[in-house]
Amino acid sequence: MNAVLSIERLTKRYGHIHAIDQLDLEVEKGSIYGLLGPNGSGKTTTLGIILDIIKPNEGSYRWFGNEPSHHSRKRIGGTLEHPIFYPYLSAENNLRIIARIKEKPFDNIGEILKTVELFDRKDDKFRTFSLGMKQRLAIASALIGNPEVLILDEPTNGLDPQGIAEIRNLVIKIANDGISVILASHLLDEVQKMCTHVAVLKKGKKLYSGPVDEVLAMSDTIELGANNPEILVNALLDFDGIKNLHKEGNLLVGKCAEGVSASDVNEFLIEKGIVLSHLNLRKKTLEDQFLEILHQSK
Ligand SMILES: Nc1ncnc2c1ncn2[C@@H]1O[C@H](COP(=O)(O)OP(=O)(O)OP(=O)(O)O)[C@@H](O)[C@H]1O
Ligand SMILES: [Mg+2]
Repeated sequence: MNAVLSIERLTKRYGHIHAIDQLDLEVEKGSIYGLLGPNGSGKTTTLGIILDIIKPNEGSYRWFGNEPSHHSRKRIGGTLEHPIFYPYLSAENNLRIIARIKEKPFDNIGEILKTVELFDRKDDKFRTFSLGMKQRLAIASALIGNPEVLILDEPTNGLDPQGIAEIRNLVIKIANDGISVILASHLLDEVQKMCTHVAVLKKGKKLYSGPVDEVLAMSDTIELGANNPEILVNALLDFDGIKNLHKEGNLLVGKCAEGVSASDVNEFLIEKGIVLSHLNLRKKTLEDQFLEILHQSK
């Protein structure tokens, strides 16, 4: 097992509100793990607990297989505790101050500025930065001290599409360098494009967790058409790889059972001597899945 983080039955209450409720989570090394959920679902609270800023009421978590400690905390970088940047100081000098506070050396600050693509602007004052540049500098501050895990709370909040794409590419680049990333987002599209794994939260409870690929592959819709629809329907009666088969216009539409691909369906039909005039797999977006998961939990 290569878990960087394991969370067990974590619970945080504020009065009668369960900010998080019996949350279990496992983050594997190398993943970009997205906590996805609507406003108030407990994402920031979860990140606050694993960064040791918020105390849970119940449950526990382990970093790198060990009880959280001063030592494990040093292996993690986060942007939750928003760094205070000095508006009249340059990007580089701001990072130097943070390095001094964290008791880390200055020598890789240039490298970090290159990673977040602010090296060319290192001497410019923080107050002259765009929102996207400020967000990237916040990520730079979290990278000081060479963390093995990076924790980001809504890293693309308020950015335009180009700013969002820049942060996305940056996070993917950081992950490719071997740093595991845990981020909170309420943007489905974001998680779909950036994350390898996702946990869907609602009112502090986990509704789903798994690899993003698997959420997307979960129950694809298949469309089938043949010149003789009657024969096709009859053949499919013997096939249990498609569920909820029904007609939509000239097509037969159903859900693929787990592990059944379009080519499995095609192969079965070819063996029966049926040639399809139409075969299409409707891939669900994460948004479809997300809405379905939230809906099912009502
Ligand atoms: N300090 C606090 N005092 C009281 N209630 C709190 C506190 N912090 C969080 N909560 C409550 O806990 C719940 C979860 O909040 P949290 O900030 O973790 O959600 P979130 O998923 O990060 O939401 P958002 O997408 O809006 O950032 C909410 O109902 C919130 O009102
Ligand atoms: Mg939040």
